[in-house]
Amino acid sequence: MNHQVHRLVPHVTDGTADADTVTWARAMQAAFLGPRMDPGDLARAAAAYAGQRLRGVWETADPAPVATLRSWDAQMSVPGGELAVDAISSIGVRSTHRRRGLLRAVLVDDLAEAVRTGTPVAALTSTQGSLYERFGFGLATWTRSISLDTRAARFRVPEPTGRLRTLDVATLPSAAAPVQDRARRRHPGSMARDAGSWTPLLTGEVGFSGMVPDRHRHAVLWSDATGRPGGYVVYRVARGWGETGVAEVAVLDLQATTPESYRELWRHLASLDLVGTVTWSDASVDEPLPWLLADPRPVALGTSREMLWLRILDVPAALGARRYPVTDRIVLAVDDPARHAAGTWAVDTTDPVEPRATTTGDEPDVALDAATLGALYLGGVDPRVLARAGRLEERTPGAAGRLARLFAAPSVPWNGIRF
Ligand SMILES: CC(C)(COP(=O)(O)OP(=O)(O)OC[C@H]1O[C@@H](n2cnc3c(N)ncnc32)[C@H](O)[C@@H]1OP(=O)(O)O)[C@@H](O)C(=O)NCCC(=O)NCCS
Repeated sequence: MNHQVHRLVPHVTDGTADADTVTWARAMQAAFLGPRMDPGDLARAAAAYAGQRLRGVWETADPAPVATLRSWDAQMSVPGGELAVDAISSIGVRSTHRRRGLLRAVLVDDLAEAVRTGTPVAALTSTQGSLYERFGFGLATWTRSISLDTRAARFRVPEPTGRLRTLDVATLPSAAAPVQDRARRRHPGSMARDAGSWTPLLTGEVGFSGMVPDRHRHAVLWSDATGRPGGYVVYRVARGWGETGVAEVAVLDLQATTPESYRELWRHLASLDLVGTVTWSDASVDEPLPWLLADPRPVALGTSREMLWLRILDVPAALGARRYPVTDRIVLAVDDPARHAAGTWAVDTTDPVEPRATTTGDEPDVALDAATLGALYLGGVDPRVLARAGRLEERTPGAAGRLARLFAAPSVPWNGIRF
């Protein structure tokens, strides 16, 4: 079926969104099983969409769309630099209209616009693991849950350093945004928070919790001895101390620019009175926390979950934007039915300052599809593992190993922000 996709530009006046945007937001919320909301609250929450691109498919005479998609321009860290990406979220289809190609319609339309405007990569996080590979998205970063038994935690550096300050809705954005901007450069794949996401991070409104206010959230900023902010943590009291006498805290975001700020933020969490456990479900797969402690056992490492999916739309721009740890020239044959990344590409890092990906007639060293290229892009998965899974074909002996050395990331890719 050929669905007509329309674009909606959100208008915000005095902190509230216009009626069409509110109707769009209500439809999106319903697709995600969110609660029905008071129109005024919804209008205030939808104000966060200012400057973003809303898409939908509308059926005649019904003001509510049957399919929604929201996207915006975001900065993402890549090895040795950063890149503008098309951040995609809020893909929802009315429960009565599923499996008729509506997701496909809004997503293909959004990707086509990203290509037109020269955005080299699209990024999303997903509610399900099997949805987006068919559109050329590859799984580029993982997260892992981690929890700390705070009563057993003993820090190897016994005395706290620096200073802590609590933040509120008024102070969080200006204090934390520059910290996040510095912190995220340490992790390829880390996305910049969009300006509209700070308030909901602390209030609970607009997020996937269903735009419902959450009054159990706290934010703390750590600064070093010179007063320079070095990290922040936002957390919620997931279970109060009333029932068992011991509360549980869940970290929502923790960003640290230095080992010292990382240690002191965890020390703060571990020192919270009335709290027995701190959990963080979207931590990096290589959290240093166990190494901070005299005994690593109070740290429990949990399950890992897929996080960031990347879709390469422009191979020369995407591969040219990152840096590579070795010099080499490897030829990749990329299969892409949507044509965005299709071709035979020579990735040449002979000039480490200006690596290039150009089309070539040379025989490929490696053959792969666009989703696999997206998975490899940040260096978050070893190409030899993908070869073992049959996702990448070595055409010259040892090519997967050479690709592993070429694409290796300076640190484990991580994005802690689901969007
Ligand atoms: C997931 C959702 C957006 C799918 O929308 P839809 O309009 O039914 O999807 P489409 O009909 O366009 O399907 C596109 C393709 O994805 C497949 N697909 C759709 N939903 C799927 C699912 N839940 N699991 C696996 N495959 C699925 C379809 O079979 C189709 O495959 P094809 O390309 O081989 O034909 C919709 O079910 C929904 O709104 N779910 C709740 C909100 C949600 O989870 N959104 C995703 C946010 S990341």
